[in-house]
Amino acid sequence: MTSVRVTDLVKDYSIRTGLKRTRLRAVDHVNLELVPGRTVALVGESGSGKSTIAKILTHMETPTSGSVDVRLDDGTAVHKARYRREVQMVFQDPFASLNPFHSIEHHIARPLRIHKRTANAAETRQRVLEMLERVNLTPASNFAPRRPHELSGGQRQRVAIARALAPGAQVLIADEPVSMLDVSIRLGVLNLLGRLQREDSLAVLYITHDLATARHFSDEITVLYRGRVVERGPSDAVILDPHHEYTKLLALAAPDPERPGRVTSADPVDRAAIDNSRCYDHFAGEWVEAGVPSGDAVGTAGR
Ligand SMILES: Nc1ncnc2c1ncn2[C@@H]1O[C@H](COP(=O)(O)OP(=O)(O)OP(=O)(O)O)[C@@H](O)[C@H]1O
Ligand SMILES: [Mg+2]
Repeated sequence: MTSVRVTDLVKDYSIRTGLKRTRLRAVDHVNLELVPGRTVALVGESGSGKSTIAKILTHMETPTSGSVDVRLDDGTAVHKARYRREVQMVFQDPFASLNPFHSIEHHIARPLRIHKRTANAAETRQRVLEMLERVNLTPASNFAPRRPHELSGGQRQRVAIARALAPGAQVLIADEPVSMLDVSIRLGVLNLLGRLQREDSLAVLYITHDLATARHFSDEITVLYRGRVVERGPSDAVILDPHHEYTKLLALAAPDPERPGRVTSADPVDRAAIDNSRCYDHFAGEWVEAGVPSGDAVGTAGR
């Protein structure tokens, strides 16, 4: 099985403001670990750096500094082709992530061929049908020849999940995989991800704004605020006993079935004043330094 260790990850973007260029630190010394059979939720508001981390993990961006270490159980490092095969991403938008000109079969057969998972056309077709069945698109032979526009959003996202798993993914990065779907079908897609994770013992990074699903579908929660991790721990501990001011704010804003109607804080909070220099680590049971000392910091992401 494959694990991922992210150490001291930093990503700076260069932003043009008029004639000048300034640096924006989108990800600020983030540490993260993904292990087989466990789901880590990465939560945080818009602009906090979640997708940047996902892009670095899937080699769509290069980090400014820090490392992403992917290893097998015996400690062997996973490189290049194997990395690309085993670390897969499910994107937020199922409408943009599939090519309208190609059939569903093509979308799943392509990674099988690229990563040489099958020996011939008949085997590829057989595997495509198996993958469609695994994501509950049945009867598979009815879905295989269709084009993406003939499917619903939820069905397209199932195709995207099948495509990610087809090459033999061990690590799945799901960047807000259900936020563009109708509320009524979100749970079905998340339950599917949960089942596949258990069946294949996948290491999953589940990126979301939604604390309720983060708690339900994840073993751990990592809270990101303006590029820095401000709280981490087992899901229940982070949700039921939040320590950081920002996590408390998120928890307060999340709908609570026991307190219907309570969706916002009574006192408006000055978000810019929230400190992101400290992180509460529930595993260690203590506050630790987040990011770098403020003297070294450049402009941080978010607002
Ligand atoms: N290619 C880029 N060039 C410059 N700045 C960027 C680039 N990509 C992201 N950023 C900036 O980096 C910060 C983090 O962006 P990111 O997309 O990681 O946020 P996010 O947490 O995924 O937000 P959302 O919840 O809205 O998806 C933002 O301030 C964003 O504007
Ligand atoms: Mg994002």
